[in-house]
Amino acid sequence: MRLKQYLQERALLVDEHLSTLLPRETEYPQIIHEAMQYSIFAGGKRLRPIMCLAGVEALGKEYEPYLPVACALEMIHTYSLIHDDLPAMDNDDYRRGKLTSHKVYGEDIAILAGDALLTHAFEVLATAAEGLPGEKRMLRVIREVAMASGTRGMIGGQVVDVQSEGKAITPLTLDYIHTHKTGALFRAAVRSGALLTGASENELSALTEYAECFGLVFQITDDLLDILGDEKILGKPVGSDEKNQKGTYPSLYGIEKSKELAREAVDKAVKSLEPLRGNTEPLILLARYLIERKS
Ligand code: IPE
Ligand code: IPE
Ligand code: MG
Ligand code: MG
Ligand code: MG
Repeated sequence: MRLKQYLQERALLVDEHLSTLLPRETEYPQIIHEAMQYSIFAGGKRLRPIMCLAGVEALGKEYEPYLPVACALEMIHTYSLIHDDLPAMDNDDYRRGKLTSHKVYGEDIAILAGDALLTHAFEVLATAAEGLPGEKRMLRVIREVAMASGTRGMIGGQVVDVQSEGKAITPLTLDYIHTHKTGALFRAAVRSGALLTGASENELSALTEYAECFGLVFQITDDLLDILGDEKILGKPVGSDEKNQKGTYPSLYGIEKSKELAREAVDKAVKSLEPLRGNTEPLILLARYLIERKS
């Protein structure tokens, strides 16, 4: 299997589905729907939805019914990026190779576009419940996704991230930031598909361990790319962390040690998939790709 092709095909599928789930740009008030579409279709990798679907595949199940759930995760992720880039947060001008939302639409509409994507994601999840067997399972997924996005998840991580700017932080605080601002949504992504298929506790814990390692490594490599990456390939500025005096893996451990910690966590992620009986190849390749990714 070629990972590049797999990622392209899955991203296309997710994009097609996203366009059916978002309000049209022509719908009044047009500006907000335009801003939502602008950021969603600016060209993200779609990794959270892809991870959600790959988790289902790893259990030997069909992934198609879970596309709306996968898309809802991308809406939440895109909202988090719009807000992360705002002048009051990281103050960045480029995202996904295009001007950030606030640069195009102004801060007022950018804030509202983020709010709207977050809210719409939960509308999509609740609507998806009608087409899937087992409403109780969907209720659990909605709760998990809400927690992963809230103060016990991504928002918690973002709060400690901004409050730690310019300060010396401990390894424990840094891990809190990474596992929450980034890890929580990956964890929810992998678990949500699995929960909906009725995965066993053993299957869930294998996937959860995998996802937790994946999320941590994803943010370690994001930190590394902020120093070593190429802006044109990344589609967002390098040097943003230094500008904002962020606590990052390379700032705390140095570049080489950060790479080594990332490699160790990838091995752990791959190992945790051993008990699973479905097609785990995509998840294995996705984990290995983390330490090579250029964007
Ligand atoms: C960037 O996420 C923000 C982080 C959580 C590090 P991605 O690197 O997945 O961004 P897109 O979705 O591909 O633009
Ligand atoms: C952001 O982390 C994580 C989010 C919840 C958006 P970063 O601030 O490092 O993400 P980038 O580098 O701007 O994509
Ligand atoms: Mg940030
Ligand atoms: Mg940022
Ligand atoms: Mg970053």
